[in-house]
Amino acid sequence: MADPAARIQVRRARLTDAPALARIHAHTWRVAYDGLLPADYLRDLEPRRLAVDWRRHILRARRSPQGHLEAVLVAFDATQAERPLVGFATTGPARGRRVRGFAGELFMLYVHPAAQGQGGGRVLFDAARDALTDLGFRWWFVSVLEANTAARRFYAARGLQPDGEAWVDHFAGGEAVRVMRYGGPLDPVWPPRGAGPADQSAPGGSA
Ligand SMILES: CC(C)(COP(=O)(O)OP(=O)(O)OC[C@H]1O[C@@H](n2cnc3c(N)ncnc32)[C@H](O)[C@@H]1OP(=O)(O)O)[C@@H](O)C(=O)NCCC(=O)NCCS
Repeated sequence: MADPAARIQVRRARLTDAPALARIHAHTWRVAYDGLLPADYLRDLEPRRLAVDWRRHILRARRSPQGHLEAVLVAFDATQAERPLVGFATTGPARGRRVRGFAGELFMLYVHPAAQGQGGGRVLFDAARDALTDLGFRWWFVSVLEANTAARRFYAARGLQPDGEAWVDHFAGGEAVRVMRYGGPLDPVWPPRGAGPADQSAPGGSA
């Protein structure tokens, strides 16, 4: 799933990751969404409670017939003996009736503030895209707060574009928060993933 020489690597989550996922979740949201989401909502992100949700999520992603379409991916620092988690991404079939079947979705992508800017977001993004591509999805979406300009730049730099879908959400009944959807194609059929530079041309060659 990752370049074995890379400092930050990605793997599927295990049940024992739930407490660390919960801690990263709570802290990263509080930092990233300070001033963007209601303070009450952020304060209520309690790691012990979130850990229960993460356990459930990891189990579902491993066991249920629907869950096998879902993935919980964790990024860890491979240079440290205990291989601490630094971030996570979750994926699955896209929500929304009109896109069901052909589109996947990146539900969450978060890197702990202390580890941001070190490549974790990039490898998680790539692993999420690969997980959805491997399931045969042809398109993917991610929802992002309109005010989260850093994340919007991150996605745009990776080929995702706003697709016109936008709505208002109320977190914990707080003030209206504008959310927009980005989307883009997953791997084209050719070249096959993993093909070396010599295999990059389409069959029959190019003009
Ligand atoms: C967005 C996020 C996942 C990126 O992860 P990261 O580990 O910091 O990013 P990386 O170190 O992998 O950097 C990847 C690229 O994004 C760029 N980048 C990272 N943070 C950026 C920022 N705040 N603004 C602009 N570019 C940024 C890097 O320069 C790098 O570019 P390159 O690939 O051309 O070299 C992470 O910063 C994060 O968790 N942010 C807060 C939560 C969030 O907004 N999540 C998205 C919710 S929709």
